Amino acid sequence: MIDPFGRAVTYLRVSVTDRCNYRCNYCMAEDMTFLPRKDLLTLEELQRICSVFIGLGVQKLRITGGEPLVRRDILSLFEHLGAQLGSGLDELTLTTNGALLDKFSKPLKDLGVKRVNVSLDTLDKTKFEELTRLGKYDDVMRGIDAAVDAGLKVKINAVALKGINDSEMDQLLAWCGERGFDLSVIESMPMGDIGQLRDDHFWSLEEAKADIEKRWTLTPSNYQTGGPSRYHNIAQTGQRIGFIAPYSHNFCESCNRVRLTCTGVLYLCLGQDDSVDLRAPLREGASDQELRDIILKAMERKPKGHDFDHTRLADGAQVVRFMNTTGG
Ligand code: GTP
Ligand code: 5AD
Ligand code: SF4
Repeated sequence: MIDPFGRAVTYLRVSVTDRCNYRCNYCMAEDMTFLPRKDLLTLEELQRICSVFIGLGVQKLRITGGEPLVRRDILSLFEHLGAQLGSGLDELTLTTNGALLDKFSKPLKDLGVKRVNVSLDTLDKTKFEELTRLGKYDDVMRGIDAAVDAGLKVKINAVALKGINDSEMDQLLAWCGERGFDLSVIESMPMGDIGQLRDDHFWSLEEAKADIEKRWTLTPSNYQTGGPSRYHNIAQTGQRIGFIAPYSHNFCESCNRVRLTCTGVLYLCLGQDDSVDLRAPLREGASDQELRDIILKAMERKPKGHDFDHTRLADGAQVVRFMNTTGG
């Protein structure tokens, strides 16, 4: 799949549910409503679409949510997709809040998952429970331990939030260093109306990096995961820090990914609203070839890049859908 800008699409992010056991305040409104279950693709439908994408050249699949591990019977999807590793598919992975990793790490590893990205914005238990509203810090710590014990490589994702975790980067870097984890720091993106101004907590990664470099020695690394993180080696810990900075530097020119929602909508870009529905043709009995044609046609609409503009953060949401619709 090659888009009009010559970019090969080899990475599919699949949101298997919009539901989450947390309500992170930068991600969701407190009184979030979720989709009726009948709107969701079944696990068999998700699996079928993923297989069609693998046939079209997708090598990396990331399962996201909401929180992917709250989807009932989710391991059966991993089982079917894991069976395709080595036959077109190179990597099957997930992004999770970690709360359920205690239970799922071992089976995920057995089904072919090698690494997980765990969202953890603060190591301060009180702050964590405030920020996530429903999160339990101890569950996440137990989950991360279980992932390590199962032999999964862990990467931590932290959204950079001024006045919330800006004073904690040293602690996060030291902790990741001790545990052998890379850390990705993410610039907050204006997705979904969260009922408060994102401006209040926006912390540009240019600023964050300059601050971190006062105390840590960072050198740019060539390490690539196929994701948008720009990695740097940290001399003091031997681990890496990645910056995911849609405002500060535009990584769209090397974009290799598209996103499927749990209702079967294909988004060509995280930061744009253009989409193509795959559920209707699927449920009307489309053949694999027909699905392939629809997807290939959709690639012609992949935009050059996002229009996020942090100077417009105060206007509220720039992209109407919430991050949990597309799973980041
Ligand atoms: P790795 O495979 O470890 O590199 O993961 P990843 O960074 O691709 O995935 P992850 O789910 O950990 O995503 C981390 C953050 O990057 C999330 O907040 C995503 O929303 C964001 N992200 C991923 N892809 C894109 C993208 O194409 N555009 C933008 N703006 N953000 C993205
Ligand atoms: N901006 C940036 N990152 C976000 N995430 C959720 N909402 C936002 C947002 N508005 C992050 C989560 C998780 C990843 C999938 O996306 O913290 O690490
Ligand atoms: Fe749930 Fe992730 Fe959104 Fe937090 S950021 S509410 S863990 S989907």
